[in-house]
Amino acid sequence: MYLQVIEGNYFTSADRESIYAGEDALICIDQGGKIARIVKKEASDFSEVRQAALIQSKLHQLSNDERLLPGFIDLHVHAPQWPQAGLALDKPLNDWLNTYTFPLEAKYKDVEFATPVYADLMQNLLANGTTTAMIFGTVYNDSNLELAKQAVSSGLRAFIGKVAMDNPDETPEYYRDFSAEQALEDTEIFIEKILAMQANSETTIFPVITPRFVPSCTDELLAGLGNLARRYDLPVQSHCSESDWEDQYVLDRFHKRDAEVLDYFGLLTDKSVMAHGTQLSNSDLDLFKNRQTAVAHCPISNAYFGNAVFPTNVALANGNKVGMGSDISGGYSPSIYKNMQQSVMASQMLTDGVDRRQAENVRGAGNSRISMKTAFYLATRGGAEALHIPTGAIEVGYQADFQVVKLHSDYLTNDRDDEFEQLMYQTERADICQVIVGGKQVYQR
Ligand code: GUN
Ligand code: FE
Repeated sequence: MYLQVIEGNYFTSADRESIYAGEDALICIDQGGKIARIVKKEASDFSEVRQAALIQSKLHQLSNDERLLPGFIDLHVHAPQWPQAGLALDKPLNDWLNTYTFPLEAKYKDVEFATPVYADLMQNLLANGTTTAMIFGTVYNDSNLELAKQAVSSGLRAFIGKVAMDNPDETPEYYRDFSAEQALEDTEIFIEKILAMQANSETTIFPVITPRFVPSCTDELLAGLGNLARRYDLPVQSHCSESDWEDQYVLDRFHKRDAEVLDYFGLLTDKSVMAHGTQLSNSDLDLFKNRQTAVAHCPISNAYFGNAVFPTNVALANGNKVGMGSDISGGYSPSIYKNMQQSVMASQMLTDGVDRRQAENVRGAGNSRISMKTAFYLATRGGAEALHIPTGAIEVGYQADFQVVKLHSDYLTNDRDDEFEQLMYQTERADICQVIVGGKQVYQR
C-alpha cells in the first residue's frame, strides 16, 4: 500500500528549456517516501488506484486552484547570516564581511544565540518552498551541530559545513580558526558527528567540506581540506570568482586564477558546489566542466557583491552544472521564487548576444538571457544534480519532495505554459500551502 496518493495538476522541469505539465494525475508515494508511480487519467486502472487510496484515507486531493511542484533546492545559504538578511547591502563585499558579517557570525560561539535563529531559518526555508539546502555554518562546532539538529527536526534535507578560515591576514582575530591544524581537526570532528546523525535520520543530512573562500584560508588549510574531501569522499562548498576583489587577491597571492587554485588543492570535484562564479573565464568554465563541479547561481546576491550577471546560458551550453542559491544574506531573500525572478530579469539586461567576458572592463556577460523555464530547471533538477540526490522532479523514482501552491488567478488562461509562467512570477510565501519532504508534511500554512 502507498504512503499517500496525491491527485491533481503538477509541473516539473523536463529539461533546461521545457517543463512537463501533468493533468489530473495520481502521484503515488511509497512507504520509503519516493514516487512509486504516476497514474495518468487515461490509465485503465486509474479509478481502481484512486478508489483504493480513498478507502484507506490515503488520497490527498488538490483543489482546483492548487498545483503540485517539486520542492526547491537552495545550493547556497549562510545560516548564521539570517538575522542580517537585507542589511548593509550597499557595502562592497569585503567591507560587508568585516563590519557586519564576521561580528555577527562570531556570536554563534554561544549556542543559545544560535538555537532560535537556526530554528527560525529552517521554518522560513520550508515556508518558501525549499526542501533541500546546502548550508554554511560558522567556525564553531557546537552551533554547527545545533544547526544540523534543527535541520533534521524540521525535515529539511540539508548539506551542512563547518566554515574553515584561518588566514590571519584576511580574517579578524575574534573570528577565525586558531590554526590550520585546529580547523582540520574540528572539521573532522564535525564530519564524524554528522555521519553518525545521518544513520539515524529519515531525511538527508550530509557533512560538507567548507573553506570559506581562498582569501580566508592558508595554503595548509586548503590542502588539508582537499585531502579530507578525498578521504571521506564528501561534497565541498565555497565561493569562487564572486568579485573582482577576490579574483585580484588570488592572482596576487598565487599568480593563478581562483578556480585554478581551488583545483590545485583538490577542491574542485564532481561533488563541489562553488557559489557565484560571475567572473569565471571561459577556461575556468572548462575546468569546472572537466571536474563536474557545479556553480550555485545566486542572482540577487550577484547584483550587490558581484556587480555582474552570471552567464547562465554560456555555462549551460558549455555543459556546466548549474543550480540556484539564495546566498542568505548576500541575497536578502530565502525565496527561490524571488531568485528565479531576479535571474530572468538580470539576464534580460544583457541581450546583445555579445560574450562580454571577452571585452576589457565590461561587467557581466552577454548571451545570458534565460527563460523562467530555465530558472525553474536550475532551482530543481540543476540543484539536485549538483548534490547527487534524487529530488527536484515529479517523476517515478524521485523523492516525494513537493510544495503545494495556490494560483493567484485562474480566469486568464487555460494554457498550462502561461499558467506556469504566472505561477513562477506571482507565488508569494502566503500562496505556499503545504510542503512535503520524503512524502511527509513538514510545513503547512
Ligand atoms: N565570500 C566570503 N564569505 C562570503 C559570504 O559570507 N558571503 C558572500 N556573498 N561572499 C563571501
Ligand atoms: Fe555566499
